[in-house]
Amino acid sequence: TRKIIIDTDPGQDDALAILLAFASPELEVLGVTVVAGNVSLALTELNARKICELAGRPDARVFAGADRPLMRPLVTAEHVHGKTGLDGPDLPEPAMLLQDKHAVDFIIETLRKEETGSVTLCALGPLTNIAQVLIRAPELAPRIQEIVLMGGGFFEGGNITPTAEFNIYVDPHAAQIVLRSGVPVVILPLDVTHKTLTTAKRIERFRAMGTKAGDASVALLEFFERFDEEKYGRDGGPLHDPNVIAYVMKPELYRGRHCNVVVDATNDLTLGMTVVDWWGVTDRPKNALYIRHVDDEGFFDLLTERVARLP
Ligand code: BDR
Ligand code: CA
Repeated sequence: TRKIIIDTDPGQDDALAILLAFASPELEVLGVTVVAGNVSLALTELNARKICELAGRPDARVFAGADRPLMRPLVTAEHVHGKTGLDGPDLPEPAMLLQDKHAVDFIIETLRKEETGSVTLCALGPLTNIAQVLIRAPELAPRIQEIVLMGGGFFEGGNITPTAEFNIYVDPHAAQIVLRSGVPVVILPLDVTHKTLTTAKRIERFRAMGTKAGDASVALLEFFERFDEEKYGRDGGPLHDPNVIAYVMKPELYRGRHCNVVVDATNDLTLGMTVVDWWGVTDRPKNALYIRHVDDEGFFDLLTERVARLP
């Protein structure tokens, strides 16, 4: 099994990613760390606990982290995710408690304790918590197996500005720290997630499960899709964050290239843009594996086969 920490700002698509991780025996989820992003930290941490309980894992540990980006004011995305960040299903108030420890302390302690190179950080939101770990304990960078993140986009354009993807845009300085850290980074950008579309047929597969998790997934996806379908004029909205978890388990579903990726944190028009040197036209170092292609059928097969195992 592979040890992961899920850093997240749920978010309907974050919720599906968390369900996928808990449903997969190949993964050991050491903790769920929460960051402000789609909505405020108070809501993202509440949503994370609701999802753990939905997955039948009230024993999971949820840690609250940064309530705002490193340098910029928080930008949220209620226009996508609804007022609660998790609009759609009617999930009960969670009984499980939030852990006392700060998310950044938890990640630092875990990296010190676990065998070196054995922990993967799965980043589903703005990179603030992870950047804070790297600022406070840079000596731990070599102990991280991999940072696999959903963020950025280059060929497909942006979703919060014409040039920027939401997670990177919200905290571009944190993204810069991650990309300069020397840790192996895998990027699942909009170029990939805009290919994993929640078509009606795919949503039916969740309904057919006849489980609590299946029904909640339908409600999550139907709410989420409503926004994107209108916007992108496609059959179904892009399902972003579960790609991170699917990549960790089945990298053979994905194809990309090691190349240089830098984030703009200076210019107004391109703030938060991921500039990808796909063709190697600079001599900047290859600091990330930038994914561009996904077997979308294979991705949905994995996702539905796993979520079907949940209560
Ligand atoms: C990313 O932004 C959030 O709204 C989603 O949860 C996803 O992580 C997509 O740009
Ligand atoms: Ca997210």
